[in-house]
Amino acid sequence: LSKKEGKQIFKGMNFLITAGATREKIDPVRYFTNHSSGKMGYAIAEQAAKLGANVILISGKTDLNPPDRVKTIMVESAQDMLEKVLEYYEETNVVIKSAAVADYRPVVTYDKKLKKQKDHLTIEMEKTTDILKELGERKNKQLLVGFAAETNSLEEYAKSKLTRKNLDLIVANNVTTEGAGFGTDTNIVTMFDRNLNKVELPLMSKRDVAIKLLEKIETMMKEERP
Ligand code: CTP
Ligand code: CA
Repeated sequence: LSKKEGKQIFKGMNFLITAGATREKIDPVRYFTNHSSGKMGYAIAEQAAKLGANVILISGKTDLNPPDRVKTIMVESAQDMLEKVLEYYEETNVVIKSAAVADYRPVVTYDKKLKKQKDHLTIEMEKTTDILKELGERKNKQLLVGFAAETNSLEEYAKSKLTRKNLDLIVANNVTTEGAGFGTDTNIVTMFDRNLNKVELPLMSKRDVAIKLLEKIETMMKEERP
């Protein structure tokens, strides 16, 4: 694992990494979000920078400190994240989308606090843009890496996301397994590349998952440009 450490294997390459959860506002005091500590994405950003990449990290709210030598940009909603990502996409070589993006947002955001009234409240939601799918459609030279958070049928769902979003690699995890997923310092992931080669990693720290992922990316880049 450590043999690549400190080597500048990504020197001159631009990486765009997203992390954390987006927040979709209901009113000035409330929002919809989902579980994501940001730890996986921050670990990838940190390790990519150590390996010499120029890293831009576009992050939803987290409790983490911005990694050293990484340009970190904080965003709030899925729409904000989409706009920031598109701003940098053209000059990017590798995109890694580990953020937990909200799939829906409230149709209306109230500018005053909603007052408690009826016994039941219905909030109408609309789909957000699928950022990764959008990137897949606009892809020219970029290597595109997605994540898949699943509770069941991991392999089937992960492969369908890989194809549907025109990705080069997908990193899937079962978020209900102990030691994997939200908030933990460890993860258990399976990667599928665009040729459906499968790499199953055992339980390891998110830092080590980040290194394994980056090594896989390096291998894929070498295969393209030997
Ligand atoms: N993603 C995205 N924009 C969205 C939703 C998801 O860019 N609006 C990205 C995530 O960052 C992740 C990948 O798509 O890299 C898969 O996210 P996931 O939630 O697992 O899959 P979805 O396609 O949203 O499908 P579902 O939630 O129904 O499983
Ligand atoms: Ca989703």
